[in-house]
Amino acid sequence: MSRNNNIARARAHSNIAFVKYWGNLDDDLRLPANSSISMNLAALHTTTTVEWQADRKTDSLTINGARADKSALLRVRAHLDEIRRRLEVDCRARVDSYNNFPMGTGIASSASAFASLTLAAVSALGKRMDVRALSTLARLGSGSAARSVASGFVEWRSGDSHDTSCAETFAEADHWALVDVIAVVSRSHKRVGSSAGHQTAGSSVIQSARVDSAGARLLSVKQAILQRDFELFAKTVEEDSNLMHAVMMTSRPPLFYWQPLSLTVMESVRRWRATDGLQVCYTLDAGPNVHCICAAGDAERVVDRLKALSPEIEILRSRVGGGAVVLPADPPHRERRLRK
Ligand code: DP6
Repeated sequence: MSRNNNIARARAHSNIAFVKYWGNLDDDLRLPANSSISMNLAALHTTTTVEWQADRKTDSLTINGARADKSALLRVRAHLDEIRRRLEVDCRARVDSYNNFPMGTGIASSASAFASLTLAAVSALGKRMDVRALSTLARLGSGSAARSVASGFVEWRSGDSHDTSCAETFAEADHWALVDVIAVVSRSHKRVGSSAGHQTAGSSVIQSARVDSAGARLLSVKQAILQRDFELFAKTVEEDSNLMHAVMMTSRPPLFYWQPLSLTVMESVRRWRATDGLQVCYTLDAGPNVHCICAAGDAERVVDRLKALSPEIEILRSRVGGGAVVLPADPPHRERRLRK
């Protein structure tokens, strides 16, 4: 391996799922129990630099300039092991990752992290892969990362084997001007992460009903996006989120991610849509923060109303984003300076 071309930097965006991935048929391969749909979030991203070094004894990982904790390192190392095994590489890597949004708050940092890590790792080897192949590989690191590889509005077909479970774009980012106004009601790190949650999903008696009906919701959400039908979109997205949280709450042990303020926001969003005609609906991932998905023209009004609801709510907002991209491989110290 040449010393000059073994480094690459890649960026991937976070995504928000409209039909959720919750529970795996195969936890090791991250083959999901159902197909899912999401949109990428332009404003929220992870930038990762990977350098493969022939004389390195062990992989290293920094996140936002600080040495990562052991669990993060072990997860990244496991993913690098998969890449080493599948691409026949035998050396270790230095990995430096930067998120521009808070981690562990139900805003999927693992999606953008593993999508950017996978693209950087593959590019640093001088290899080219198409979106399907990259998505397949990224999925092994984190299921939702499979969706962050592709651009815009994305469908992850569950498939039934490693090679058939990957995500693809079904509408580009400029197809529909939606905005995700995220009501951050808590920045504290979530107690039970998604990976642990996926493993208990099957213990809920509701999970099989959720999975059996996911295909119908997926068709509705896809049709709603393709036809820009906000009413159908809102109804189905809220139902899918409620169903996933019903599974979480009825799993053994139960998982409760909602906080009182999450419920206040959810009720308000439904009222703003039903009585005031705002094009807005809610969806929540594995955390208490409420993603208020709205038509771009209503985003400002939604932000104002959220601020008026409670001074505790912080707002992040994002338009629809593109897919994972390779960036010029600047050294990480430059990235740190830029972020100050
Ligand atoms: C609730 O992709 O974070 O956000 O595959 O274990 O990394 P791992 O899980 P992850 O799960 C995402 C769960 C979700 C719903 C979704 O994004 O579809």
